[in-house]
Amino acid sequence: MNSTLLRGRMLSFVRWPETIDDHSAWRYEEDGGLVISDGKIVASGAYADVEKQAGEGAKKIDHRPHLLLPGFIDTHVHFPQMQVIASYGAELLDWLNTYTFPEETKFANAQHGRRIARLFLDEMVRHGTTTVAAYCSVHKASAEAFFAESHDRNMLNIAGKVMMDRNAPEGVLDTPQSGYDDTKALIREWHGKGRQHYAITPRFAITSSPEQMEMAGALCREHPDLHMQTHLSENHAEIAFTQQLYPWSRDYTDVYEHYGLLGKNSLFGHCIHLSEREADALSESGSVAVFCPTSNLFLGSGLFDYQRFRRREKSLRIAAATDVGGGTNYSMLRTMDEGYKVIALNGEKLNPFQSFWQITRGNAEALSVAGKIGTLDQGTDADIVVLDARATPAMRLRMETAQTLAQELFLLQTLGDDRAVREVYVAGRAAKSDMAN
Ligand code: GUN
Ligand code: FE
Repeated sequence: MNSTLLRGRMLSFVRWPETIDDHSAWRYEEDGGLVISDGKIVASGAYADVEKQAGEGAKKIDHRPHLLLPGFIDTHVHFPQMQVIASYGAELLDWLNTYTFPEETKFANAQHGRRIARLFLDEMVRHGTTTVAAYCSVHKASAEAFFAESHDRNMLNIAGKVMMDRNAPEGVLDTPQSGYDDTKALIREWHGKGRQHYAITPRFAITSSPEQMEMAGALCREHPDLHMQTHLSENHAEIAFTQQLYPWSRDYTDVYEHYGLLGKNSLFGHCIHLSEREADALSESGSVAVFCPTSNLFLGSGLFDYQRFRRREKSLRIAAATDVGGGTNYSMLRTMDEGYKVIALNGEKLNPFQSFWQITRGNAEALSVAGKIGTLDQGTDADIVVLDARATPAMRLRMETAQTLAQELFLLQTLGDDRAVREVYVAGRAAKSDMAN
């Protein structure tokens, strides 16, 4: 048996950390060890204990003094928007019409899709993200390109072709029938192949006709184990337009509710301007609200009320995400730095343990894959990020005065980016150093 023995300072989470002193919410080993075999973590704990289980021929890699954490998870990102990121001067609907839809028309070309899928997953790995829930373009070929690239790398990824049949240029439209048929074919070909998961992906209520929304609902009923991902309550003009298009609806959430799209595998990007009724409906159905701080700030969409959503009697399941290309950075560290500021503007704080819980175990729980990824537990997949809090001169200098793990994590979040990511293991394979060579 070919095994690898990693050594380093090791951190993973057991549950949501209530406070900065809630030590039983995480596991930290100052001298930790992980034994990896066949893409899985087969032993996890104090180095002295796991070393014995590694076997004679194990390859030893010492990452001390760096931190080993579960690979980061990005729960909402658009892979075809790598050349949309950093587009100036528009709010959501203008941004979609001016930059995003024209860019996505290019993915009719399968070769373009393959190139961007490869560069996208390179970028994810470079930033320490080992799992994404990704939107592809409307074109079936874009999803094929994404899954082929993801499968080649043995990454656990969730993705789907967007379904959109109105209110966008011809080059990014399908029809209710073709959207259904292409989705079915993609599910057959890719869902459950290796580590690939398919997500039924109606883009949002504005770009789907009622007929297409019916089809999306039918797909969810036919495949109740699949994820469903869409956008909800991001921007005031978007909400008003949705109300016009679905005049019978009580509110935006009601549109998705009506077509049977709420549920515990449903991911709703943004959820910024929800009424109490909408938040109740999401909570009762076990749906997930996805916090996309860099995007919400960049597009001027609004402030997601993270702590209120967590605290309310009917609490929401929350995930965090980059939402590139509305989002402005590929890094989950940069994302949580901006997230911290958004929460601060709402008069609250998110402590560093909560942040790192969110982008590892929290996001895994939100995607209902916490049995496979998001921790460093024995038996789970070996998706691991190695973080260096002294990666730059400024970080090194600041680390001179950091005395606790909480301070180190907060420094990583506030100053860190891809430079702080020393190595990334995808199903046990050293993927970042592999890429550099
Ligand atoms: N709503 C519908 N499509 C999109 C998109 O691509 N990005 C964002 N941020 N919101 C959307
Ligand atoms: Fe989005």
